[in-house]
Amino acid sequence: MTLQEAMQAVEAKMYEVVNSDVGVLRDASRHILEAGGKRIRPRLLLLAYAANGGQKFDEAVPVAAAVELVHTASVVHDDINDHGVVRRGRPSVNAIWGRTFALLTGDYLFTKVYELMAPYRDLNVVLAEATVALVEGETLQASAVKENNFSRQVYYDIIARKTAALFRSAGRLGARLANAPDEVVEALGQYGFNIGLAFQIIDDVLDIIADSEKLGKTAGVDIAQGRGFAVAYAANGQPGGVAVVEETFDDPIVAIRSKVMRGGAIDEAYQQAEAFSQMAVESLRPLPDSPAKDALIEMAYTMVKRER
Ligand code: IPE
Ligand code: IPE
Ligand code: MG
Ligand code: MG
Repeated sequence: MTLQEAMQAVEAKMYEVVNSDVGVLRDASRHILEAGGKRIRPRLLLLAYAANGGQKFDEAVPVAAAVELVHTASVVHDDINDHGVVRRGRPSVNAIWGRTFALLTGDYLFTKVYELMAPYRDLNVVLAEATVALVEGETLQASAVKENNFSRQVYYDIIARKTAALFRSAGRLGARLANAPDEVVEALGQYGFNIGLAFQIIDDVLDIIADSEKLGKTAGVDIAQGRGFAVAYAANGQPGGVAVVEETFDDPIVAIRSKVMRGGAIDEAYQQAEAFSQMAVESLRPLPDSPAKDALIEMAYTMVKRER
């Protein structure tokens, strides 16, 4: 089985497990899956597996599907919280079915992860840790916005948990499935963690500079909702953070946008993302050369170059 065939098998697996005789759950799950998405996390898992000599992709496919379903559930719930009406270029689940069914669809997808992971014993713990971190990150973000203390330090703590933890788990799970030694499992985890940080920083940049159509989701929501790299940047170095920025302007959104555009937030974000992607590449040093390793290196660079 090639990587491409394995990715197709991941798709098939996800469709298979979300089937239900409860129409809304089945249709809403299919809707968000059919909308596409980059499928970066399962690809990372399968590449980490192959880079460690794993040859039976079919043994890794259900775990890769589980990781992608955690992500899928998280975006379904995220669009409820963020009032996102467009996701992957289509109306979001909440936009079509409403908040209640979107909440339940996200629950359903999270629950299907148990089913997929049941045969994998202690690998469950790796994915559970990442899922807990994701929920913690989303919660810390909502609290930071509410309490108006969105500093850079808080920002990095948030993105480490809400995004990088799942990428880390994908790297670790792929390596574990290939029976890699512990230090290599950690190296792949470090790789995933760093590309996850780069990935989220670029996501926040794209929220500011890209248009909604290209992104396939509503742009400009981060500043409006008082979060993201730009807000952390604007708040930096000032006691009281964003609150101080707000006082000097009538409209906090105008204040932050103006500060971001005058200052070098975008450049700095790219520099940070590049540094994380470089660190990710360095983490791969223990691995022997292979096409899968080359693909992981390429993946780290595309994190920074991506436009959607
Ligand atoms: C979006 O993730 C949510 C973040 C963690 C920033 P992706 O950009 O991977 O979403 P899809 O799966 O490609 O739609
Ligand atoms: C997406 O977060 C969900 C998680 C990372 C858990 P965001 O709200 O930052 O991402 P988008 O821009 O809506 O995809
Ligand atoms: Mg969000
Ligand atoms: Mg969002």
